[in-house]
Amino acid sequence: MQITKSENMRIGVVPGPKLVTLVSYGTMENPNIVTVSYAGQITDRLMYVSLRPSRNSNQSIRGCKRFAINYIGSDLVKEADFCGIYSSRDTDKFKETGLNLDFDQEIPMIVESPLSLECVLKNITRMGEHDVFFGEVNKAIRRNEESSWLYHDNFEYFGNGNQLGSLFQIGK
Ligand SMILES: Cc1cc2nc3c(=O)[nH]c(=O)nc-3n(C[C@H](O)[C@H](O)[C@H](O)COP(=O)(O)O)c2cc1C
Repeated sequence: MQITKSENMRIGVVPGPKLVTLVSYGTMENPNIVTVSYAGQITDRLMYVSLRPSRNSNQSIRGCKRFAINYIGSDLVKEADFCGIYSSRDTDKFKETGLNLDFDQEIPMIVESPLSLECVLKNITRMGEHDVFFGEVNKAIRRNEESSWLYHDNFEYFGNGNQLGSLFQIGK
């Protein structure tokens, strides 16, 4: 799809691939997930996750001070969209998606993720409409190699060379 300048200005999001991650947090007894695409690596060991103040996860991660960034393949597009539509305020996202908690870990991580990064919260900075959570990587769990990471661009999901569906729709 061709993205024109005027479309981009209207949407207000810079075009380009954004990896879709599942950020897990909470306790092993009460685990939670939120879908985040404004996430990434800053330096060798430092990651960031940007969350709007209205997200339940934003408030919760301030309390638990640890979170995990779970990268995912395109096979989890529906689960990812679901976790980006519904709030953990009134939804048990592990239960509803069928994603499995990795019981070998100290904080919630997702078994279906090929790569999970456990992060210790170091700082939070307000940037426009988002709070940026900075986390130092404590542990990296690589479960398998992945050749089809899930990403989105211009509100469409892609992976494995295919267009997979629209954001905020296919997980309903
Ligand atoms: C693909 C995708 C990416 C998203 N990326 C972000 C993001 O980077 N930051 C954010 O605050 N919300 C993002 N969202 C929206 C949240 O995931 C969504 O509001 C979620 O319901 C919040 O859940 P919570 O209230 O349990 O924290 C994204 C949603 C989708 C579908």
